[in-house]
Amino acid sequence: MKNQAELPIGVFDSGVGGLTVLKALRERMPCEDIIYLGDTARLPYGTKSAQTIVRYGVQCGAELIKRGIKLLVVACNTASAVALDALREANPGVPVIGVVEPGAQAACRASDNQAIAVIATESTIAGGAYQRAIHAIRPQARILGHPCPLFVALAEEGWTDGQIPEAVAARYLDPLFRPASGTGHPVIPDTLVLGCTHFPLLAPAIRNVVPSHTTIVDSAATTAETVYRELDRLNLDRPGSDCGSTAYLTTDDVPRFARTGSRFLGTPIAETDVELVDL
Ligand code: DGL
Repeated sequence: MKNQAELPIGVFDSGVGGLTVLKALRERMPCEDIIYLGDTARLPYGTKSAQTIVRYGVQCGAELIKRGIKLLVVACNTASAVALDALREANPGVPVIGVVEPGAQAACRASDNQAIAVIATESTIAGGAYQRAIHAIRPQARILGHPCPLFVALAEEGWTDGQIPEAVAARYLDPLFRPASGTGHPVIPDTLVLGCTHFPLLAPAIRNVVPSHTTIVDSAATTAETVYRELDRLNLDRPGSDCGSTAYLTTDDVPRFARTGSRFLGTPIAETDVELVDL
């Protein structure tokens, strides 16, 4: 039987978007083995009810825990926002880390004027988890939450730069960053949280439509740092210096997972490295 420190880190997302988090984990912890599950059959989570997201999230967690993991990363913002407590309750023996708190911490560090915009899926914004996490650190913060569901489709489609994503970004973000005259003198956010796995791919288009001084926060790197510290604290970091392995699981269409996943990960994924699972 494997020593606990030698077990892989489990990561799940509703699809391939969480590979942006996997990439950050891999960069921060090159020696760790990682097993990634993308629940592509049931994507998107961001438009589903809280009840359904909890059910799907708990099933994904159970699949990874069944295979033997030492820590579970919920890379999906929607599942982190809605299902984190249920996942912790269902798995008391395994540390569970989501992306919302690390993202909120990074936003609070970045913001000087305490006006923070959060963009995410409909369910993430409606659940208010980012708003609560930011207020827990900065009670005075003014938070503008805004759902941007079309960004998910654009990122999946690979339409991440040029006129179309910039027009969509301007339509979503102008009311927050360039309010029409006559709407008083609202404080313009100096920080924008990309509260969805897919949005980092659109960061260049987003950057082109927000004021140049805006800090764009992506929770992937902060989440990787949180995981690194937690493993260190629990003495669970993998000994040795050889490169860690990555295994991929998907609930639907292996070739599509490999194809679109390669774009999110930034390196090719071989179809032979992806296993089809039924939850
Ligand atoms: N992974 C989801 C998130 O980060 C985006 C895609 C979806 O709606 O499932 O919120």
